[in-house]
Amino acid sequence: MCSNKLRTVMNSVVLLLLLVGFGLVNGEDQSKWREPRNHSRHHRPLKKIKVDPSGYGDFKTIQSAIDSVPSNNKHWICIFVRSGVYREKVMIPVDKPFILLQGEGRNNTTISWDDHTTLAESPTFSSFADNFAARHISFKNTYNLEEVKQKNPRVPAVAALIAGDKSSFYKCNFFGLQDTLWDMEGRHYYKSCHIEGAVDFIFGMGQSIYEKCVIYVNSRMLDPNGKWEYPGYITAQGRNSPTDSNGFVFKNSAVHGNGAAYLGRAWRDYSRVLFYNTSLSNIIVPQGWDAWNFDGHEYKITFAEVNCYGLGSDTSSRVRWLKKLDHSTVMNLVDMSFIDIGGWLRRHPLHQNMLKV
Ligand SMILES: *[C@@H]1O[C@H](CO)[C@@H](O)[C@H](O)[C@H]1NC(C)=O
Ligand SMILES: *[C@@H]1O[C@H](CO)[C@@H](O)[C@H](O)[C@H]1NC(C)=O
Ligand SMILES: *[C@@H]1O[C@H](CO)[C@@H](O)[C@H](O)[C@H]1NC(C)=O
Ligand SMILES: *[C@@H]1O[C@H](CO)[C@@H](O)[C@H](O)[C@H]1NC(C)=O
Repeated sequence: MCSNKLRTVMNSVVLLLLLVGFGLVNGEDQSKWREPRNHSRHHRPLKKIKVDPSGYGDFKTIQSAIDSVPSNNKHWICIFVRSGVYREKVMIPVDKPFILLQGEGRNNTTISWDDHTTLAESPTFSSFADNFAARHISFKNTYNLEEVKQKNPRVPAVAALIAGDKSSFYKCNFFGLQDTLWDMEGRHYYKSCHIEGAVDFIFGMGQSIYEKCVIYVNSRMLDPNGKWEYPGYITAQGRNSPTDSNGFVFKNSAVHGNGAAYLGRAWRDYSRVLFYNTSLSNIIVPQGWDAWNFDGHEYKITFAEVNCYGLGSDTSSRVRWLKKLDHSTVMNLVDMSFIDIGGWLRRHPLHQNMLKV
């Protein structure tokens, strides 16, 4: 009896110690989560799903491959898409994170559609999930590229809408005319991509770095007489409060095209865009930027050009409210830490391999 009671007491003490110990360990763990994690310990071989329209893969369409990914997926899955033009609209829902969509070369694998009913419904490709990556693939909305030539009105027609956090693109192409790339929200990285359009063709509230990208202005489409009377607008950034962390940063990139363009116009009153160490061709209009609906409130807008070069980089005739950022502000924007908070990009082996493009 006595020893049994003692054992019960001892057991309770042990249980109590275990609980306290567990709590402490848990507490420690929680503080560790705030540190950037070393992902390589968690790395495992990529699961691959193959999309091949001729039937030799796992699926014939990209959407059916995405549909096969389990809800709340936790490990990276590569959806490899064989060469071809995929005439489909593709959507990655919010509950399917960790998808790498990989084409067989961006000149070979294209997702193409021509919707234009509303801005929100128009995207050929949309991604709502966190932790998405794409490489070697093209996203295209052909509506303004083909139908407008047949004299239909030009309207928003999005090629890709990126709404998830921690999304990255390597050697991808984006083709459209108006609103090509809806960089809607979240931390995004675009490396060695080609983005083409004429009006507001990179727009939204994304917190994004575009590195080594080619921005191609296709604004001759706006102005068939070739008089350069209708300049396009490259960016329409949507930051709407001075405390919002978002903004577009173009770094070590190149801007050229077949017609005139502004570097951007302010979609919201605290719009923020920086062109850094980027080559600007003579297509850039001398004033460079437009306040759009925010005349008289230009002081809120952060449009800046730092160390750019090329025939379009002369800032002497730019709008007077072009921002002069101090060195540390510029460095904070162009450093990868602007988007790579917590090490999701540079510390992850999946990205480390892809970053080398
Ligand atoms: C991450 O872990 C791997 C394997 O344990 C190790 O080789 C690597 O040095 C670590 N990296 C960092 C940045 O701690
Ligand atoms: C693209 O397709 C061509 C023709 O099929 C092929 O030769 C080439 O290797 C492909 N490109 C890539 C990057 O795979
Ligand atoms: C892809 O197409 C572009 C434009 O036509 C061309 O400049 C580029 O060299 C092509 N890339 C490859 C790998 O074939
Ligand atoms: C500027 O851009 C060029 C071309 O992309 C690159 O070679 C160079 O290293 C960049 N310089 C800096 C300071 O980032």
